[in-house]
Amino acid sequence: MTVSRRDAIKLAALGGAVAAGCGGGSNPLSATTMSSDPTTPAGTANSLWGGRFGAGPSAIMQEINASIGVDKRLWRQDIQGSRAHVAMLGKQGIVSAEDVAAIDKGLQQIAAEYEAGKLVENLALEDIHLHVETRLKEIIGPAAGRLHTARSRNDQVAVDFRLWVKAACAEADLALKGLITALLARAEEHADTIMPGFTHLQVAQPVTLGHHLMAYVEMLNRDRSRFADAMKRMDECPLGAAALAGTSFPIDRQMTAKALGFAGGPTRNSLDSVSDRDFALEYLSATHMTGLHLSRLAEEMIIWASQPFGFITLPDAWSTGSSIMPQKRNPDAAELVRAKAGQFLAAFTRLSVVMKGLPLAYSKDMQDDKVTVFAAHDDLGLCLASMMGMVQTITFNKAKMRAAANSGFSTATDLADWLVRAGGVPFREAHEITGKCVKAAEAKGTDLNGLTDAELSAIDKRITKAVRDVLSVEASVASRTSFGGTAPANVRAAITAARKAL
Ligand code: ARG
Repeated sequence: MTVSRRDAIKLAALGGAVAAGCGGGSNPLSATTMSSDPTTPAGTANSLWGGRFGAGPSAIMQEINASIGVDKRLWRQDIQGSRAHVAMLGKQGIVSAEDVAAIDKGLQQIAAEYEAGKLVENLALEDIHLHVETRLKEIIGPAAGRLHTARSRNDQVAVDFRLWVKAACAEADLALKGLITALLARAEEHADTIMPGFTHLQVAQPVTLGHHLMAYVEMLNRDRSRFADAMKRMDECPLGAAALAGTSFPIDRQMTAKALGFAGGPTRNSLDSVSDRDFALEYLSATHMTGLHLSRLAEEMIIWASQPFGFITLPDAWSTGSSIMPQKRNPDAAELVRAKAGQFLAAFTRLSVVMKGLPLAYSKDMQDDKVTVFAAHDDLGLCLASMMGMVQTITFNKAKMRAAANSGFSTATDLADWLVRAGGVPFREAHEITGKCVKAAEAKGTDLNGLTDAELSAIDKRITKAVRDVLSVEASVASRTSFGGTAPANVRAAITAARKAL
């Protein structure tokens, strides 16, 4: 019999009750149901290692052990790896040309079947590797058994998964490029748009919206380099490590590494080859860092979309309504990106904890790597695509942003800097004088420009009418021309440079 994992908890509870002698009159594990007791062997021994076994696994054992529901995603890589392996076995004279041809043809047929959605999941066959091999035997007969010469599932899964994660890094890079391109377009459109820059979420100094968006371009470019860096390191082929010790067959690992596109050639230590999951962890680490950046952008969108800010409006396509409050327009996608960022860290932590105590070489614990990485990969794709969609379609409310930029005495630093430049005042003294101006403006209920010339010079006689030139938010941002500063001209130069690098 098979048993669903959802029933396992009930079965365990019933078994416990029986063992404790309190099963009661209606014991579901009575004589009639005992015959299908899922804790007893489910059937015959697995044909792939039946020589050693007298009985098959219990249904619960099958349920906890099988990974086909997850690792079927590796079918392309598995067939690709097997084809490279058997071609090498042929070239080395380990398997006859005739058998190689039959195996390769069979593998291509399986690929076509799986492409057409004809993979039949069978828990008794555990994982994708045994599914492919068993199907091959159905198609070509006993010659299929030669495919597993000089190979183990341990190096097989390592090579499949590396191929998959390498491709995932490339996909992440493409998606990051898409989001960066969207940010660059909006940054260019808003190179001159003025918004408040914050520290402590208090209005600090005016900045340009283009500059703010370009900050995320910097972060995401670093994320791209992290994926690229991880990809470079994982670009070595573990196939041929066999179970853990290498093999006595005269295999050519350079050949399979090359055929599978591993630029770094074969891995150098068989024990490490089958027990290393650094590559998956590095992928998750880069994913986590990307998620962290996306989460900060998402958080800003959420704040900016809230009514007290009103800096942005999300289009209908990226908002949800409320079932009770008709006026609502909620930024759910941004909130979910923020939530999923936590899942990336959880994924990294989860696999780290699986790996940290494992002795060399392979342990079944490692099978859990794939469910973790696949989920993170899917979520990363959703997050990057959602952020790109939102960035492309958000409406920036320029008037609200400018008004906010003008609040909170945001050009006070410009006044202090002006005193240093025009009046030769030491900066600390200029800071103090400007503080008095802010206090006076606050008492008067105005901004710094709302103080009269007389009021300003009464605070310090070195303040003249010429100071008006620096008190506007436009003048403030235009003056920030230091390298990496917020001036519109700098933003345009940064966009040009970023486009070139892309
Ligand atoms: N399904 C296994 C995994 O994903 C494949 C390797 C199994 N190896 C073994 N010795 N049982 O890790």
